[in-house]
Amino acid sequence: MPPLLDQHGRPLRNLRLSVTDRCNLRCQYCMPEEHYTWLPKGDVLSFEEVVRLVGVFASLGVDKVRVTGGEPLLRADLPVLVGMLARVPGIAELAMTSNGVLLREHAAALRAAGLQRITVSLDTLDAATFRLLARRDDLSRVLDGIAAAREAGFRDLKLDTVVIAGVNDGELPALLDYARGIGAELRCIEYMDVGGATHWAPERVVSRARILERLSAAFGTIRALPRTDSAPAERFVLGDGTVFGIIASVTQPFCATCDRARLTADGMWFRCLYAVTGTDLRALLRSGASDAQLAAVIQSAWQARRDRGAEERAALADRRPLLPQASLRQNPHLEMHTRGG
Ligand code: GTP
Ligand code: 5AD
Ligand code: SF4
Repeated sequence: MPPLLDQHGRPLRNLRLSVTDRCNLRCQYCMPEEHYTWLPKGDVLSFEEVVRLVGVFASLGVDKVRVTGGEPLLRADLPVLVGMLARVPGIAELAMTSNGVLLREHAAALRAAGLQRITVSLDTLDAATFRLLARRDDLSRVLDGIAAAREAGFRDLKLDTVVIAGVNDGELPALLDYARGIGAELRCIEYMDVGGATHWAPERVVSRARILERLSAAFGTIRALPRTDSAPAERFVLGDGTVFGIIASVTQPFCATCDRARLTADGMWFRCLYAVTGTDLRALLRSGASDAQLAAVIQSAWQARRDRGAEERAALADRRPLLPQASLRQNPHLEMHTRGG
């Protein structure tokens, strides 16, 4: 079958699957508010519904699934879902992004169920900064969760750090040292003005250029590695061979090669991270649509896709938070924690 291409010639290959909108942390860059509107429990897809949709996506070219949240480990029996996803024909890569707090409890079961790779969010190694940034006192559990993932046999561990000026930018060398010490790949992420990032401001972004400056001051010459695929991270290598990445979605958007889409826990399908409208696949599923009907809807929506959200944002002269809190309250689908980052 020829690949399904959108209006900019981009294939649909990568599905980010949010399995819950709940989270046990309150990271400043994602969930800075005191109160949130949660998805109604009855709307959340069952494992059977999720697996059926993933099967339809796979039939249209998706070969990479990343389980996300909120915090995916808050979804009861996640290893059972992972086991079901691992058996979907056509899914070559099954990964998860987690905040790590509950990894100690679940790493071995996830591995046994067929999860291949884990990315853990790690923004700081300092307990006080963690408390400030995530508003919970869980740094030691996260570090222990990372250790548990390694003990369970996960290789190619990645650590994601959202860099915020004046909060954790001074810690970049320490974070890279830590990642190097455990054989993980650190990815420094520019603080993005996505839905939910209501405290975002341009001066809080630490650019790719500034990140590189800080790291080369600490580690010497840094060489860029050639880009291999559509992954958002640009990869670099230190003199001693340590590889790290930078995800420069703010200053150097990568919309041109974006092959990803995201499914919320209640079955809304969004193409772009910045999109305000999506496709309600739950309604179709629950009204009795066949796989062929679901595939036809997905196919035509992807073919019509023109999104270049991050590039459009980068072109704005006066850039402020994407959405006011009131609209996020009314429509939780617009939140980063609902659509899975
Ligand atoms: P791999 O390619 O498997 O490493 O996964 P990934 O990098 O897509 O996964 P991860 O969950 O680690 O994503 C890293 C971060 O990149 C996200 O948390 C976001 O901050 C950012 N990101 C993910 N998807 C998009 C996207 O579609 N557009 C933009 N601009 N940024 C994204
Ligand atoms: N900017 C960049 N990345 C973000 N994430 C959440 N909010 C933001 C933001 N405002 C990403 C982080 C986190 C993952 C779950 O989502 O990478 O680790
Ligand atoms: Fe933090 Fe992820 Fe939870 Fe958002 S969903 S508050 S980024 S741990």
